[in-house]
Amino acid sequence: MNQESLNELWACARDTAVHAGKLTRDIFNQPRQITAKGLRDIVTDADTAAQKLITDAIQAKFPEHGFVTEEKDSQLPRSGPVIWVIDPVDGTTNYARQLPEYCVAIGAVADSGQVLAGAIYDPMRDELFSAAKGLGAAVNGRPLQVSQIDDLNKSLVAMDWARNEELRRSAMDVLPKFAHQISFPRVFGSAALAMAWVAAGRVDLYLNYHLQTWDVAAASIILAEAGGRLTDLHGRPWTFPSHTGYCIASNGRVHQECMTLIHWQT
Ligand code: IPD
Ligand code: CA
Ligand code: CA
Repeated sequence: MNQESLNELWACARDTAVHAGKLTRDIFNQPRQITAKGLRDIVTDADTAAQKLITDAIQAKFPEHGFVTEEKDSQLPRSGPVIWVIDPVDGTTNYARQLPEYCVAIGAVADSGQVLAGAIYDPMRDELFSAAKGLGAAVNGRPLQVSQIDDLNKSLVAMDWARNEELRRSAMDVLPKFAHQISFPRVFGSAALAMAWVAAGRVDLYLNYHLQTWDVAAASIILAEAGGRLTDLHGRPWTFPSHTGYCIASNGRVHQECMTLIHWQT
């Protein structure tokens, strides 16, 4: 893909993420319609409206492209030369409770599986994290770079809780293996935002036992372009679309130390 086309995808990801994010922010304080869609999993009317805004805008610009979206929409084509991977509200539980930690995440992926561009918009802080393959990563126009910290003892480590009991127990089992070895733990409730913060050097490592492609696609390119690393628990790089769901996103410098502690047998 030439640079002009890549820039077009990048701009489209940024613009649609900001528009959708502003939609969610404008109605942040209003009561939401909340529907359960699975175990500890909800969708609000704002998630649906934001997704529709995003997919309509992308289809108007790139009618031949395909979609992978968190909220089901049978009208959308699944395949195309570029697949848009969309999480209209990442951190829906926070959003539904009027907790301001959430974001919009949009990734553009080639049919080869290579992530080409991505945008993560944090509406409550008006921060737009974005990147395109080989063109760098930025937050509100400023270049992004992961932290230099190379010692887990000095690291701020974020993780999230899986929905199902078995995965949640697995995540809890690893906590005692590294909790004593880090500076402080954090739980934000928005995987994409946490990974954008890893890319920005605000957090050094993020761990999650059950991520979907729409949680990760945008973050993967932002992280890569900011110098970070994204793998499963065994160090295998994250790939689209097939991935186990286990993710470690880091500045690259504390990645191995964390993996070693996770696999450490008691
Ligand atoms: C969830 C959030 C959460 C993470 C879950 C995700 P959603 O996304 O990113 O932090 O722990 O794995 O599913 O449902 O709010 O879009
Ligand atoms: Ca999500
Ligand atoms: Ca979501």
